[in-house]
Amino acid sequence: MTDNTTIYILAIESSCDDTSAAVLCNKKTLSNVVASQKIHEEYGGVVPELASRAHQQNIVPVVHQALTMANIDKKQLSAIAFTRGPGLMGSLLVGTSFAKSLALGLDIPLIEVNHMQAHILAHFIEDENNSQPTFPFLALTISGGHTQIVLVKTAFDMEILGQTLDDAVGEAFDKSAKILGLPYPGGPLIDKYAQLGNPKAFQFTKPRVDGLNFSFSGLKTNILYFIQREVKKNPDFIMQNLNDICASIQYTIIEILMGKLKLAVKQTNIKQIAIGGGVSANSGIRKALKEAEEKWKWKTYVPKLEYCTDNAAMIGIVGYLKYKKGAFTNQSITAIPRYGIMEA
Ligand code: KG4
Ligand code: ZN
Repeated sequence: MTDNTTIYILAIESSCDDTSAAVLCNKKTLSNVVASQKIHEEYGGVVPELASRAHQQNIVPVVHQALTMANIDKKQLSAIAFTRGPGLMGSLLVGTSFAKSLALGLDIPLIEVNHMQAHILAHFIEDENNSQPTFPFLALTISGGHTQIVLVKTAFDMEILGQTLDDAVGEAFDKSAKILGLPYPGGPLIDKYAQLGNPKAFQFTKPRVDGLNFSFSGLKTNILYFIQREVKKNPDFIMQNLNDICASIQYTIIEILMGKLKLAVKQTNIKQIAIGGGVSANSGIRKALKEAEEKWKWKTYVPKLEYCTDNAAMIGIVGYLKYKKGAFTNQSITAIPRYGIMEA
């Protein structure tokens, strides 16, 4: 295989509550279709059984749409890449079985992808406007399911330096929003109201966790007790102070994230920071990273939003890189809900 071979990868992502399919031509995205499942909103969180049923309904039309938008026929595909884990077992099984059958039917290679590795390698999708980090760099993956600081030595040599011991940062946003009576997922709403409020209006305690690990469950309890106390004194407290409460919650969460990043930079002496995951959309973290570029001469990388949230294009870029290495898998492969980045 020469370097200028054109490789078309069909990628499938179904680890949580988004069914996604993408087609990549080498490192470029031709299509990246995401069907988000609205069904979970009324339950205030993802219901695993409903998620896998929705994936089953969505997978065929989503893959079809991805191929149509890319203007690619199935017969042109070089390989199928899919998310093997981590994620919800029932959800992963839908994507895994679909990918296996399609690869078998088309008689093309099958490539398994670690979802967390994909969040990081999403930075290498070629896009007109993006600049890419160089190895080694630090990655902060922040979403509803994960919070990790990873030392990325090469594309396939990563080391977790720290991670959450309980809730993920997205959960901290969503659970705080729920306490305030906001609908799920509340992260984007906290962000919206926070932009109109005073971040120093209320103080919440930051957890004391050694090293580069995180903990968010104490903060959630702290916010809950604070709100319960204030609402007892004034039933309209939330409504009257929503912007300030949201700004103060967001400020505290960003302080926690930036504090750990500062420590990671100090420990590794690496000043390139790449972020990923749905919480990367947060205006507060984006602003804090911009400020760090000026204050501490960090170089920060924030991918396009569609590559931050769960999407199949990020699975496709890993598929492409593994294709180049000849890292294929066989039909005996199974999904694994707990799949560490260092095992990939
Ligand atoms: O990566 P993602 O789409 O799905 C996974 O969790 O894997 O991330 C979703 C999470 C939710 O917790 C959502 O509330 C949070 O990202 N989120 C935000 C913002 N946009 C999405 N959190 C804070 N500010 C935002 N602007
Ligand atoms: Zn994710």
